[in-house]
This record gives sequence, structure tokens and C-alpha cells, in this order.
Amino acid sequence: MSKIKVTNPATGELIEEISMQSNAEIELAIKNGHQAFQKWSKLDAHERSRLIQAWSAKVQENKEELAKLMTLENGKPLNEARGEIDYSTAYLDWYAEEAKRVYGRTIPANTNSKRIIVTREPIGLVAAITPWNFPTAMMARKAAPALAAGCTFIVKPASETPLSGMKFIDYAYEVGIPKDVIQYVMGEGKVVGEIFTKSERIRKITFTGSTAVGKQLIANSSENIQHVTMELGGHAPLIVTEDADIELAVQQTVAAKFRNAGQTCVCANRIIVHESVVDEFTEKFASEVKKLEVGNGLKEGIDIGPIINEKGYNKIVEQIEDAIAKGAEALVGNQFQVDKEKGCFFVYPTVLKNVTTEMTIMHEETFGPVAPIVSYKTLEEAVELANSTPYGLAAYFFTNDYRVGHYLHDHLQFGIIGWNDGGPSAAHAPFGGMKESGLGREGGIEGIEPYLETKYLSIGGL
Ligand code: SIN
Repeated sequence: MSKIKVTNPATGELIEEISMQSNAEIELAIKNGHQAFQKWSKLDAHERSRLIQAWSAKVQENKEELAKLMTLENGKPLNEARGEIDYSTAYLDWYAEEAKRVYGRTIPANTNSKRIIVTREPIGLVAAITPWNFPTAMMARKAAPALAAGCTFIVKPASETPLSGMKFIDYAYEVGIPKDVIQYVMGEGKVVGEIFTKSERIRKITFTGSTAVGKQLIANSSENIQHVTMELGGHAPLIVTEDADIELAVQQTVAAKFRNAGQTCVCANRIIVHESVVDEFTEKFASEVKKLEVGNGLKEGIDIGPIINEKGYNKIVEQIEDAIAKGAEALVGNQFQVDKEKGCFFVYPTVLKNVTTEMTIMHEETFGPVAPIVSYKTLEEAVELANSTPYGLAAYFFTNDYRVGHYLHDHLQFGIIGWNDGGPSAAHAPFGGMKESGLGREGGIEGIEPYLETKYLSIGGL
């Protein structure tokens, strides 16, 4: 049986080897999840809610242990891992409540002899594929609404960071959520994806990851007309206008750019600053970025952990090299600490100025701690630049002029917008993208919708 080696990206140490399941074992898990749906979907919503709430409490009881495990396998600073555990239980808490609010409705008929009733039902067995950058939060964002709606759930966690996600689900078992109601399977991503999309028992696929893989899953899911929710790539613009509060913009841009070492779909990727304030912003931003500490996330005071793997590292370095070759200047960073043999790749937070649209970094998602700054003259130009991407996940802007703020909100083609806010993600709000950034929304009242079918009953002869 082949094994996955889970290593610490900060030190290269082996954390654990876990077995991959065979195709037959994955098929069996699907069969069990499908069978379990009959019972779980009939459990009353208040009981499902109680169990999800208990799961959340159990995760919180074990927060420190889970956060450490996450830092070990993912590399993110321990404080960020703790924050992710809170973010994950916020999804459990929110959907434990939403379970009790899956309302139907009645519709006035066009004759007194009829009544029309609309009810909502859980969709069935849901299959999820979750990413390495937020190993428990992305699982919680999918599993919580699925279980709350009455669906059963099977997930393939990322092979780079499966341990914290698996542990997160083990806590669900500890509070009495049955094993077949929520399951994890380990296997090669492509193979598991194909098994999921070929299965008639699975009614919905939910995925967070790259746009390329998302497109493949959407194409394959057409075979059985499975429902899909896709949270895909991003290339977030961050606009700083001439009237912006520069101190606030600097502080929030650091937060938006360097969370998880820039390995976040909603990370600010293109910093677009009005020409009248670009020098002031750049200088203050660079001086804040200089203060960020790079290293092993388990150590106190570390802000930037390692890059997850060599592939991710190479992409970042290529983007920096390309920008510098085309005339950009690195004010901070452009430094690396690498041990290829051990598999450790650190990129120091980098600020690039004199960036132009000819540079790759302005067109491709970086997924690393690099902040390219460009300047603009008119707001129309800033909007055009911001929207000139196939992606539409998150955008940020900083202005204290309400007319400018509403103009930007109206014209930016992105699903999530932060106005004077570098951290808009929240369990109680709809997260998701436009264009090639995905389909559907997760979080908030919108996030349970994709797990529900609508059934319409017309009663006649009254
Ligand atoms: C992501 O990177 O996909 C998730 C980030 C978030 O939820 O804020």
C-alpha cells in the first residue's frame, strides 16, 4: 500500500507516514456515506445542530494541540494556526444555528382550489477536496453546512497537510457524529477526484484549489450532473486612493498580503496606488515589511513561515526574477533561505517598486510573500487595471471618500471586497468569486444553500 510522507516544511522532518486508500476502499467509503444519508437526513435539525455545536466545543478544547499540528505540517506561524482553529469553529457554530433555519415557504396559488408549498431537502452525499493552505478552515466551511443541511460528507484532504484536517474530523467522532456521516479518504488527488465525479452516489462536489483543477472537476461532474461549488484562484488588486488614510492602508495591506506567507487565495497580489501618494505609501509599507520575522512558525515572534514546497517556491522566484529583469526594484526582500535536500524553502517578504503590466507578477497569482506596487493616475485606470484578470475573488481599496468607495464597489468585478479592510473573511459572510475564481458561495446564509434541493408541492382539488 503506498504511503504519503507528511513533512514539516520548516525543517524537513518527517511528521508521519499515512496510508493511501485503495480505489475499492474509497468506493466503500462512498457507499457507506450514501447509506448513512438515509438516517442522518432524517435526524431532526435540532439534534444535528447540537452535535455540530458539541464538535465545535471539542475542537476548542483541543485548540493548542491542533494548532501545533497545523503549524508542523503547514508551516504557518502558531498564532495564525490558532486563528485558523477559531475561524474553523466559527463555521461550525454558525451552521449549527443555520441547521434550525432551513425554511420552506408557501406561494399564493392562482385559484382557491390549490395550495403551493415549497420545502428544502438535503442534497445527498457531498464530496469535498480541500487545500493545504487552510487545512481545517476549508474543511469546516464545507462540512458544517453540509451536515447542518442533513447531507453526509466525505473529504479528501490535501496530501501536504492531511493531519490537522483528519484530527479535526476525529473530534466530530468523539462527540458522537457517526463515522459514516463524515469521512476522510486519502489518495492521489486526480484519482480521488475521478472516483468522486464518476460516482452516482455523490450529489455534490465542493472544491477549494486551483482554477485548472476546478475546471477539470466541473467538466467531469457533468457526467452525473453533480452540483458543484468551486472556490478557485485569485489575483486580488488592492487600490490606495489619493485621499486614503495611509497609515491604515499600510497596516491593512501588510495583513492582506502576508497572511500565511502570502499563500492565500484572497491575498493582495497587485498593489495599485495613486501617483500622488505612491512614494509615501511605498516607503511606509516597506519599513513595516522589514520588521516581519521569517522562520519556523513554532518559534515565538515569527510572522512568515516557509513556502509549502519547491514548486510553490520556484513560481515565486520566477516572478521576482522576471519583474527585476524587466525593471522592477526590490526595496525589501528578494532573499531566500533554501535547503533543497530537506525540502525547506523560505522567501523573505519582498516589496517591488517600478512594477509594470508587462511583468508576469501582474498577471499570475503569486501565492507567496511578494508585494508588487504600481501607480495610477485616474480612478478609471485603477479599475481597469484591477479588473484586467480572469480572476474575480477578492479586491481591496482604501479611501475615506464615500463617493469613491461606492464607485469602486460598483465597478470592481470581485466577489469579496474589503473597503479600508484587509481581512474581510468571516464565517457569517458569503465567501466566493466571480469569473474564473469559482462558482457559488461558502459562509453566511448563502453557504447552506448549495447543500439543499428545492421541492415544490402543488395540492389541488381543495
Ligand atoms: C483561501 O485562501 O482559500 C481561504 C482564505 C480565507 O478564507 O480567508
